[in-house]
Amino acid sequence: MTNSNAAAVILAAGKGTRMKSSLPKVMHAIAGRPMIGHVLASLAPLGCDPAVVVVAPGMDRVARAVAPAPTAIQAEQLGTAHAVLAARNALAGFAGDVLVLYGDSPFISTETLQRLLDRRRAADDPAVVVLGMRPDDPAEYGRLVLAGDGTLDAIVEFRDADPAQRAIDLCNSGVMAIDGRRLFDLLDQVGNANAKGEYYLTDIIAIARARGLVCAVVEAPAEELMGINSRVELAVAEALFQDRMRARAMAEGATLIDPRTVYFSHDTRLGRDVVIGPSVVFGPGVTIGDEVEIRAFCHIEGARIEDGAIIGPFARLRPGTELGPRVHIGNFVEVKNGRLGAGAKANHLAYIGDASVGAASNVGAGTIVCNYDGFDKTRTEIGAGSFIGSNSTLVSPLQIGDGAFVAAGSVITRDVPADALAVARGRQTDKPGWAGKFREYKQEMKRSSGATGKKG
Ligand code: UD1
Ligand code: MG
Repeated sequence: MTNSNAAAVILAAGKGTRMKSSLPKVMHAIAGRPMIGHVLASLAPLGCDPAVVVVAPGMDRVARAVAPAPTAIQAEQLGTAHAVLAARNALAGFAGDVLVLYGDSPFISTETLQRLLDRRRAADDPAVVVLGMRPDDPAEYGRLVLAGDGTLDAIVEFRDADPAQRAIDLCNSGVMAIDGRRLFDLLDQVGNANAKGEYYLTDIIAIARARGLVCAVVEAPAEELMGINSRVELAVAEALFQDRMRARAMAEGATLIDPRTVYFSHDTRLGRDVVIGPSVVFGPGVTIGDEVEIRAFCHIEGARIEDGAIIGPFARLRPGTELGPRVHIGNFVEVKNGRLGAGAKANHLAYIGDASVGAASNVGAGTIVCNYDGFDKTRTEIGAGSFIGSNSTLVSPLQIGDGAFVAAGSVITRDVPADALAVARGRQTDKPGWAGKFREYKQEMKRSSGATGKKG
């Protein structure tokens, strides 16, 4: 859905010095997705076109991460008004409503943005609608100064505020909806004669009011408008987001035995009656069917798990894993780019990399698929109903037919036909009486060395 009546400008050019990072601040991840990705995801249902991300020179990683959203470069960081001006070309000829957001405030919701747009389109036709909040600690946020009728008169930055203004608890979140027909006229009036010597976006309120235009405030919960400036705040945001995802997973029908120890990715999808044990970590790209049990201490990313599977404890599922219905993956089993058909089992200590295992097959303890020769990765295909004995080494590329057996301890280097037994190991020989003779010989050696006083 596109919305030719709304565009967005996401400010992300700030240096983020407090992160002490070579990574641009908005690329730091929450639940496996960069902050800027969270903002764009909340924005997406509104269909803003364009949604321009303002970055500083050299932030190519941000440009790549947000594509196909366009970026505009703010050559120098001279303030939030100056940053919006960087999007002037991208918005040329646009006369709808412009949302301004911050790339480092990842929790803004779609509903809140929609409320801002709705207020902007109300009958009194406000030039600017500002998203306000009342945080427990208003700290150094800009303060919203209201007129007697509840409309917005001005935003005063903390450093420029007098004590009476600092006592106001209604704060500027930074997010705004602005009439696109007036935006650049207002911005062109902004100067930098203030405590920071910056071009403040917040000054457009007083400028609009001086022209007799209406400005308005919409309020949203402070948690939604949290900005992230440091690693500590990043960790706080991660914890908040994880709590929300845990609550949602349980509300949608999953059992989390110890919710505080389960870590989700932003895109984890769970079916009904999934049971997740303690200390389970989900990376990006996991989809889980109904009635799946994930036992304690599993790490799962890039995996699709179908109904009724049992995973873990201590399993590692890596990208490209596809597990059919009722598959069992047990302790210390790693699967990468591997597919197991319905009811297949690998219950102990195995590596299944670049491989497929047919339905109802059993992969014994200690089986290793040798998928890499130091240069290339190759595949092993194991048929349905086959049995791979314990401690087998399967040297890829290989085809093991349906119903085949591989004897325990084999090193398999050639294809195994369907229904065959492959044995590839040293043959066992028994030497009757050997052990007794060996013991006698050792004892005799000890006695004779004791006689000469030598110690071994
Ligand atoms: C701003 C607001 C303040 C509000 C607060 C909410 C102004 C003048 N002040 O203050 O009223 O309470 O946010 O968090 O707008 N950015 C650029 N280019 C720049 C400067 C900033 O892209 O030249 C971006 C930053 O990356 C950041 C956002 O704009 O995402 C806000 O900038 P920041 O310097 O954090 O503004 P504050 O001083 O916090
Ligand atoms: Mg800030």
